[in-house]
Amino acid sequence: MNVSFEKEISKEESKVIVVPVANGNNWGLRSRNLNMEFGCALSGRIEGKPSFEGKTGQVLTGTVATTNGFKDIIFLGIGNPEALEQKSFKGLGSTLFKALKQTGETENISLISDDYEGSSLSQEEFAAYLIDGVHNATYSFDKYKTAAKSDALSLTAVVNDTEKAKQIYTPLQTTTESVSWAKDLGNEPANKLTPIEYAKKITNELQAFPNIKVKTLDVADLKQHGMGGALAVMQGSTMNPGCMVVMEYNVNPHDTERPLGLVGKGVTFDSGGLNLKPGGSMLGMKMDMCGSAAVVGAMRSLAARGSDAKVVAIVGLTENMPDGHSYRPSDILKMMNGKTVEIGNTDAEGRLVLADAMTYLQQKYNPETMVDLATLTGAVVMALSHTYTGVFDNDDELWERIQKAGKIVDEEGWRMPTLHADFAKAMRGKLADFSNVSSIKGAGASTAAAFLHNFIEKDENGQDKCRWAHMDIAGTATPPGGMASGVGVRWLDRFVRDNYEGKSKSPYLNSAPKVA
Ligand code: BES
Ligand code: MN
Ligand code: ZN
Repeated sequence: MNVSFEKEISKEESKVIVVPVANGNNWGLRSRNLNMEFGCALSGRIEGKPSFEGKTGQVLTGTVATTNGFKDIIFLGIGNPEALEQKSFKGLGSTLFKALKQTGETENISLISDDYEGSSLSQEEFAAYLIDGVHNATYSFDKYKTAAKSDALSLTAVVNDTEKAKQIYTPLQTTTESVSWAKDLGNEPANKLTPIEYAKKITNELQAFPNIKVKTLDVADLKQHGMGGALAVMQGSTMNPGCMVVMEYNVNPHDTERPLGLVGKGVTFDSGGLNLKPGGSMLGMKMDMCGSAAVVGAMRSLAARGSDAKVVAIVGLTENMPDGHSYRPSDILKMMNGKTVEIGNTDAEGRLVLADAMTYLQQKYNPETMVDLATLTGAVVMALSHTYTGVFDNDDELWERIQKAGKIVDEEGWRMPTLHADFAKAMRGKLADFSNVSSIKGAGASTAAAFLHNFIEKDENGQDKCRWAHMDIAGTATPPGGMASGVGVRWLDRFVRDNYEGKSKSPYLNSAPKVA
């Protein structure tokens, strides 16, 4: 999408004019002035249409004859200006995109921006957010369709301060591009996005940006680190070996400042392994790598917009396949942290990959906070559907910070119980330290989190060494419709921006994790 900001509308050239209208058919000053210049041609289109009141998401379109020729007009209802916030524009942008498509025009589109009474947003913010909402809505995954593709949109927003608008828009654009990249990764089928291909894509994409280092750990490296959990899942894929990708952004491993750590589950296809999933549940399991897509998407966003935060990330990439080489139920594995795990079900593979990735990150980088994202359990979908991401944590304040960042970008988390002794007990093994499946009924998302909690490194007093949050995106990454949502990219980007950039760097410094 091509975006520009202008101080004045080009009345000659514009073919489509977008006029935002607030509740009660309220127009902004610039729109009213333009209407006068056009001899009330714009308002004429609305007269006699009492059902269009400017309510959120309402749209009225039409062609009007102006002193500068025929124009397609889109009146976009924006509702109550007082209620407008950044997240309102995802919906408004998508509504506007649909209306734009109906005009058939792809260029010479002018978007009138105004200051609306009661709104806390400047007209520059309004324009930037709305364009970002349209940009987000333009996403499609049609690379495997051989038919001709549609043209990219060119939009011009009319604002007082074009520099300011650009300044607000540029990082939003960067993040939305990163969200689109994460969606692309999620939508790629598993025969195209094998773990090795995925690692190459990450390396190629991220190396374009400054201050980021990417390295791939292959099977031999993982063996050297004793990652018995991740390797067990990988061993059923003789054709497509697994790997891990480590990304350091602004991180100097010798620095005393502890970085933020991100971890992502990247199972490029989860068949269940020898505990094979039934057909209906297997469909969609190409997206079992969406946790990793969120993490690499967020790293791209941080690097591309030049964040000054120190962040290190790791994604565990593998298939989970049935094969003569596959790991089996009852196998006992030795994990990177030295603990042993017995396998109750080969379909509980994500936690094995994550556990070793988490150990690697902690042992190499000693993060102050670690956040992992994973499409980990069907149980979280039962509990929260596709609406909320289940958030599990060992620290009240971390949860609050995560929830807050999500609310701003319209990605919602629901705090789930994690540390109850019953859940930890349910994950103990009979013959090994732990089991990868729970021995109790229900709470499958919490027992999965309790399993992961065993892999948070402890200090000499047995206390968790870092703050940790586990985000189970099994529902939110894969909404009905079969397209990846890109959940997590915007959320993590915002979380970093609010808590680890500029003056607000490292919010926790020397305090210990705390759960009331
Ligand atoms: N990848 C699945 C979880 C999942 C389910 C993601 C539905 C997206 C939609 C995970 O690896 C899995 O299979 N979990 C099992 C665990 C069980 C065997 C303990 C599950 O949730 O059924
Ligand atoms: Mn599974
Ligand atoms: Zn899985």
